[in-house]
Amino acid sequence: MEERDRWATKLGLILAMAGNAIGLGNFWRFPYQLASNGGGAFMIPYFVALIFLGIPVMWVEWTTGRYGGKYGHGTIGPMFYLMARESVKPKTALIFGIIGGMLAFSVASLLSSYYYQIIGWSAAYTYYSLTGAYFGKDTVQFFISYVTNTKAVIFFWALTMVILGIAVAQGVSKGIERWVKVMMPALYVFAIILVLRALTLGSPVKPEWSAIKGLEYIWKPNFQALSQNFFKISLAAAGQIFFTLSLGMGIIHNYASYLGPEDDVALSGIATVSLNEFAEVILGGSLAIPIAFAYLGPEQAVKGGVGLAYMALPNVFANMPAGQIFGAFWFLLLWFAGFTSAIATYNYLVAMLEEDIKLDRKIGTWVVFGFLFLLGLPVALDSSLVYLSELDMWVGSYFLVLLGLFDVIVAVWLFKPDNFWEELHKGAYIDVPGWFKPIMTIIAPLFMIVLLIGNTKDYYSMGALALHVSKAYVEGVLGGTYPDAVPIVLRARLVIIAILIIGAIEAYMAIKKKYGEELAKNEVIIKM
Ligand code: ALA
Repeated sequence: MEERDRWATKLGLILAMAGNAIGLGNFWRFPYQLASNGGGAFMIPYFVALIFLGIPVMWVEWTTGRYGGKYGHGTIGPMFYLMARESVKPKTALIFGIIGGMLAFSVASLLSSYYYQIIGWSAAYTYYSLTGAYFGKDTVQFFISYVTNTKAVIFFWALTMVILGIAVAQGVSKGIERWVKVMMPALYVFAIILVLRALTLGSPVKPEWSAIKGLEYIWKPNFQALSQNFFKISLAAAGQIFFTLSLGMGIIHNYASYLGPEDDVALSGIATVSLNEFAEVILGGSLAIPIAFAYLGPEQAVKGGVGLAYMALPNVFANMPAGQIFGAFWFLLLWFAGFTSAIATYNYLVAMLEEDIKLDRKIGTWVVFGFLFLLGLPVALDSSLVYLSELDMWVGSYFLVLLGLFDVIVAVWLFKPDNFWEELHKGAYIDVPGWFKPIMTIIAPLFMIVLLIGNTKDYYSMGALALHVSKAYVEGVLGGTYPDAVPIVLRARLVIIAILIIGAIEAYMAIKKKYGEELAKNEVIIKM
C-alpha cells in the first residue's frame, strides 16, 4: 500500500482539528442562534447536547477516521463499508458505505458552496473596515449593496478560494498543518484582543446599555423562556452543536484518517471539543452580543438575527474609537476562523480524487477549485440570499444529524460496541469512563432520532417539505419575495438532488474499485 500523508506533529494535529471545528459557526452563527432563541434559555439545551451528542459523536468520528486511514481511506464511503462488514455481509455493508459517502460528499461540497461565500464577505469587510467604507452609512443598506455587487462578491470569494487552494495543494503535513500553526494562534490573539475591548466598553450610548448586560442575557439561565418554546430551542441548540463541532460533515473523519493506527484519539477528541467550546462560549459569546448590547441596546441586539455580524456590528465599529482597527480585527477573525474550517471541507474533496481515482494532489486541488466555483456561482449571483438559505436548511442542519446518526449505527453498532470501545482506547492517553459507554451506544443515537423527527415535523409545518413552494415558506422562512424566489428554491433543490446522486455513485465506485473481489464473493478478504 502506498504511504499516506500523516500529521507531522501532535501540536499541528490538534491545531488543525481545532481549526476544523472553530469557524464561522463560533463567531457568526452562535451569537445569532443565541439571540434568536432566548439567550440563557438556549444555553441549557446547548450544554445538554454538548455532553450527550457533541462529545460522543466527536469520539466516534475520530475513531472511524483513524480506522479508515489504516486502510488508506480518508472518505466516508469506504470507512463505513469497512466497519459495517463486522456485522453484515459485504454487499449490505456497501449500502451503508454508499449512504455515508453520499451524505459526506453532499455536505463537503454544498456547505462549501455557501460557507466560502461568507468567508469572502469577511475578506471584503476587513478591507471595508480598514478603508472606513461603511462608516457614516446605513450599514444594512451597505450590506445589501455589497451582496448585489456581483463583481466584488466574486472577487473576494475567488481570492479566498485561491488561497485555500494553495494551502490544500501543499498537502496535509506540508500545507494544512503549517498554515494552521500560524492561523490558529493568531485567531486566538485576535479574539482575546476583541473580547478585552468588548468587556471594557462601559456604557458608551446609554447608561442602562452595557456589554455586561449582554453577558447576563447569555449566562442567566432562563427556564421560563425555555419551557415556552422547548422543542424549537432544543433543536436549534443541538443543531448548533453539530455545526460548530464540524460533526456529520465527514471532515473530522478525514483529518483523523491522517493519524497513525496507534495514535491517541480519546484525549485528542476531547481536546478538540474543549478548544472549540472555549472559542465558542467564552470568546464567541463575549463578542457580538455584548458589543451589540452596549451600542445598540438589548432590543436591537436580540433582533440582529443572521445579520448581527455583517449588518449590526459594522454600525458599532463606525461609532467606536479606533473602530476601523477593531472592525478589521473582527472581520479578519471571521476570515481566519472560516478559512481553517474551509480547508477541511476542501481537503475532503481532494482526498476523494487522490484516493479514489489516483489523481495527483496538485491537479486534484484545482479540479476541486473548478467544481466548487461552479457550485458556488449561483450562491454568489443570488443577492436575495434565498438560494443560500435553502441550501442551509437542508445541508447545514438536516444532513449533519443524519450522517451523525449513521456514524453511530455503523461505527458503534455494526462495528460492535465492544470493538468500538477497544478501538477508541487503542493508544489512548486517557480512559473514557465506563459510564460513558451507554451514552455513546444508546443515548446519543436516540437523541439524534428525536432530533430528526423534530426537524422533520418542523420542516413540515414550515412548508419546507412540500413540493409546491408556498408563499409562507419563501417569505417567512427564506426571507425572499414570492413568487420571484420560487425558481431559485427549485434550482437549489435540484442541485441538492444532483449532488446526492453523484455522491452515491462516487462512494459506490470507490468501494467497488478496492473491494470488488470481496463484493463479488460477498465475503471479507482484506483484513488488517
Ligand atoms: N465547525 C465549523 C464552524 O463552526 C464548520 O463553522
